[in-house]
Amino acid sequence: MSDTVSGPLTADSIAGAAYIVAALLFILSLAGLSKHEKARAGVIYGITGMVIALAATIWLTLQDAWGTGHGLTGLVLLLAAVLVGGAIGLWRARVVEMTGMPELIALLHSFVGLAAVLVGWNGHLEAPDLSADLRAIHHAEVFIGVFIGAVTFTGSIVAFLKLSARMKSSPLMLPGKNAINLGALAAFIALTVWYVNDSQLSLLIVVTLLALGLGWHLVASIGGGDMPVVVSMLNSYSGWAAAAAGFLLNNDLLIITGALVGSSGAYLSYIMCKAMNRSFISVIAGGFGIAAPAAADAEDGEHREITAQATAEMLTNASSVVITPGYGMAVAQAQYPVAELAHQLRERGVNVRFGIHPVAGRLPGHMNVLLAEAKVPYDIVLEMDEINEDLGDTSVVLVIGANDTVNPSAAEDPGSPIAGMPVLRVWEAENVVVFKRSMATGYAGVQNPLFFRDNSQMLFGDAKQRVEDILRVLAEFPAPASPQQLNFR
Ligand code: TAP
Repeated sequence: MSDTVSGPLTADSIAGAAYIVAALLFILSLAGLSKHEKARAGVIYGITGMVIALAATIWLTLQDAWGTGHGLTGLVLLLAAVLVGGAIGLWRARVVEMTGMPELIALLHSFVGLAAVLVGWNGHLEAPDLSADLRAIHHAEVFIGVFIGAVTFTGSIVAFLKLSARMKSSPLMLPGKNAINLGALAAFIALTVWYVNDSQLSLLIVVTLLALGLGWHLVASIGGGDMPVVVSMLNSYSGWAAAAAGFLLNNDLLIITGALVGSSGAYLSYIMCKAMNRSFISVIAGGFGIAAPAAADAEDGEHREITAQATAEMLTNASSVVITPGYGMAVAQAQYPVAELAHQLRERGVNVRFGIHPVAGRLPGHMNVLLAEAKVPYDIVLEMDEINEDLGDTSVVLVIGANDTVNPSAAEDPGSPIAGMPVLRVWEAENVVVFKRSMATGYAGVQNPLFFRDNSQMLFGDAKQRVEDILRVLAEFPAPASPQQLNFR
């Protein structure tokens, strides 16, 4: 038997085998996460893969460090980094609210970007001794890694600031913004060629600054309504940044994992763009080709208010009710009373269903998770496309803390910043009751003409409290033994 087959096990070969197992587990994890029923198993595969990958990397690093006589220092540094990082990660994951998840994810993407920049810089400062051909490849890896990493870093920070409302969610509309983005890209290509031929530190500084500015500008130019796509796009960028770092560190697992995250993130962005009727290229290019919205001539007017008592009466007289929840239901944690309201109305023979917009809330599937948590039966929770046709025949729609996802200007006003985005056509129903605290705009910062329509009424206040008020009114009139409608009047 040849040496390659029967040779002694080296640290590298053991770590390589562990990396293959981890990579397979990551692929199984992605497959699991794509289905409701298998999502839990998907998470467990992911955790197991990450533990194996981390253990193999730590072990490999220590082997190297011991070989060079820096074993103890290496061990101490590694343990300190793992303990500090692990403790902060655990703490944040435990305290983060569901509604704060996307901004936390955006912040984590920025760390991946920063790590790729640091790895790239290290690749320049500690350049290995290589032949001319390999040196050119190494320089290209350094430059591309730093570029992708820096774009991801500032882009993710802007996404974090926008998602956490520390920065205005409306798009930044610099004059000639498309030319700025294209110019930056052209400059990057020219600088890469230059750096590959002549690896000056000054070029690395220039590309780092250029990419930091480009990342900031790309995401700042995208409006609030398109942020879901931006988050998955940054997810994809962070994957490519990790893959670039993997090439530099000669780490196969990082390359595989980065490519998995990069391609799955890109595909998710594509699916989301299709669902929201957005051009994929336009969104990844920072709103390329999207003109500044026309001056606000949004429908305005008088809104009408309704009380919890009158809403309860309307609901018990209704034959069909559709509930369209949004971000406000998550903020108010109103899912439990909302589930109870659906139950009570169903007991009274009312046909109650939920209509879920694909980007309602702040992360994909946000509303589905909340409703599942409150034990709303799956079969009455319908996707936007499944419920939209029925809304015209619905007696009452309850809009609970949703705004952009039910905004008629998306369908009717071509000048609106959210024009073309599919929405739940709640205004076609006989009656609409909107639960929110004020007349404030939604995430996209666009006024909602729904509030001024003749068939709409506002029920102001915290969504949870208002739904509980309705439940109290219903409790005074228990459901009849046979499901027939009650009349309070
Ligand atoms: P939004 O348009 O964000 O509107 C939510 C509404 O809830 C607000 O107008 C707010 O009005 C109300 N609200 C907040 N707290 C409330 C409370 N305690 N009680 C009652 N109402 C409350 O929500 P949406 O319709 O779900 O649309 C989601 C938006 O977020 C879209 O623009 C989407 O593109 C964007 N986005 C989505 C995602 C994903 S992946 N889902 C990620 C990032 C961004 P008041 O302040 O007047 O109460």
